[in-house]
Amino acid sequence: MNSHAPNMRPTIRQLDEAAANRIAAGEVVERPASAVKELVENALDAGASRIDVAIAKGGKALIRVSDDGCGMTAEDLPLALSRHATSKIDGSDLLDIRSFGFRGEALPSLGAVGRLTLTSRAQGFDAAQLTVTGGKLGAVKPAAGNRGTVVELRDLFFATPARLKFLRSDRAETQAVVDVIRRLAMAEPFVGFTLTDEDEGRVLFRADAEQGELFGALQTRLGRVMGRDFIENALPIDATRDDISLTGFAALPTYSRGAAVAQHLFVNGRPVRDKLLTGALRAGYMDVLASGRHPAAVLFVTCDPHCVDVNVHPAKAEVRFREPDVARGLVVSALRHALAGAGHRSSSTVATAALDVARVEPVRSYQADYRPSGAAISASLALQAPMGFAEAPTARVEPEPMTPEPDAPLGAARAQLHENWIIAQTATGIVIVDQHAAHERLVYERLKAQADANGIATQALLIPEIVELSDADATRILSIADELAALGLVIEPFGGGAVAVREVPALIKRIDAPRLIRDILDDLADQGTSDRLRARVDAVLSSMACHGSVRSGRRMNGDEMNALLREMERTPKSGQCNHGRPTWIELKLSDIERLFGR
Ligand SMILES: Nc1ncnc2c1ncn2[C@@H]1O[C@H](COP(=O)(O)OP(=O)(O)OP(=O)(O)O)[C@@H](O)[C@H]1O
Ligand SMILES: [Mg+2]
Repeated sequence: MNSHAPNMRPTIRQLDEAAANRIAAGEVVERPASAVKELVENALDAGASRIDVAIAKGGKALIRVSDDGCGMTAEDLPLALSRHATSKIDGSDLLDIRSFGFRGEALPSLGAVGRLTLTSRAQGFDAAQLTVTGGKLGAVKPAAGNRGTVVELRDLFFATPARLKFLRSDRAETQAVVDVIRRLAMAEPFVGFTLTDEDEGRVLFRADAEQGELFGALQTRLGRVMGRDFIENALPIDATRDDISLTGFAALPTYSRGAAVAQHLFVNGRPVRDKLLTGALRAGYMDVLASGRHPAAVLFVTCDPHCVDVNVHPAKAEVRFREPDVARGLVVSALRHALAGAGHRSSSTVATAALDVARVEPVRSYQADYRPSGAAISASLALQAPMGFAEAPTARVEPEPMTPEPDAPLGAARAQLHENWIIAQTATGIVIVDQHAAHERLVYERLKAQADANGIATQALLIPEIVELSDADATRILSIADELAALGLVIEPFGGGAVAVREVPALIKRIDAPRLIRDILDDLADQGTSDRLRARVDAVLSSMACHGSVRSGRRMNGDEMNALLREMERTPKSGQCNHGRPTWIELKLSDIERLFGR
């Protein structure tokens, strides 16, 4: 017998509607930002082209969302506030969901935990208003207003003080609201958004409705939300596989971030945080990013609503694909393809940042109102004077290009400076190559191509290592035995939930096979697939490449330098070294002219 009620039989009772709504609200509305998300999604579902959001005290005191969508009639208002009432589905097919909303939960939940007023007007009807406070419905009243809806939510969680205590500072809650609006605005370029802090009268976010065709509109909108430099450093993605399509933008590896803060994934327009998709995003970049760096990308997966279940998470933040492998494979291959194609591009911000460092402040010594001191004059002369025409000790200049190749993207090598920097002349500017980084990448790609062509050399274990697993885990790992063998890890069933490891990749010294297998199993459980072994093999190849590369400090003659440039042009992904740093940058003549104020 438990300690709750000795000798007493508990009574089962039906909770009243207000209590039931408050409990439901606990799942739907976690914080002001989740209320904003529900209300803005409703406005989008109503076909709004303009959505204005105002908040006060991080949304705790006030959230007001105004839209110019289809609106509701006076009769609609009480229905909109009752649970399980929705205009968006008829309930016959829960896998055919084409709107953000489908549960009829959001408004009654918000009305149960705050003071909610709906004011709305549908085309051809008068405006009407209805208030609900802590779950208690008022009467429908006539109101004034344009077509569309205003939802005002005051004192969120006043009816559930426990929840109120868990909220964070106004600033943190405001930031969460900004993030929600930014995400929704990314997927809806034709809708204009504003977010205002009503206390401070400050506009926190604004994006005017974009015009034109979808992809261009999307590009402009993402530039506005993510920053221009993101778009300038991003590759357009557009791929389709088995009725699933993927579009969006993925940043060059040289534009990676220290945390996964610039990753935005959408499924049929709905922002999601999905393990499968973020895992696929990581896998797509696996080869070109150092560990600890995170790709920046905004990706939209579009598919028939029947191929994805959105009804798996209370805040709809997760989805479940009917064919997860197809979705994952599409993301990985589209990203790899785009990144390989962009092998010769490195981040423009690198060059821009370099220019910013190099740019000197204009010297004002010619201005009549400015009488420079002696020190200022000699400093400005020092800045403007040529560095001297004598060759620096480690600069080697090629008098004539060995093989003039003006059209080649990386140009003709003209000099090697400080025994690591190759300077090449292109049709429109100059290219500076980091010789060590470039060579390392080339060797890595060569090693990988060899491994792909000849298979990965294995080393047979004298005594097979037995790894004890659960039956289910043993079955799961054995189901991918062929893939593992292709990467050099040979396993066999050993009976009773155990597997025997017979061969391991010769490349990897001191392999902890049981641990590797358990890690792979975790990946499989987590993401449905595992790149761990591949990543381990690649990491070894990468460090072999690093040791086998031309170190900085080696002198190269013109032929060698040009050969390196040509090989870079042929090799996919040669724009970044194995650690994601650029291997070369280009300064356009126009940039150089800018530097000199021409
Ligand atoms: N801004 C709006 N403009 C027009 N109609 C709206 C608006 N907001 C809500 N409604 C109407 O009120 C109904 C209830 O909204 P609510 O958000 O509670 O449920 P839902 O959007 O249908 O489903 P979910 O709970 O998944 O969000 C909607 O189905 C819609 O008909
Ligand atoms: Mg809704």
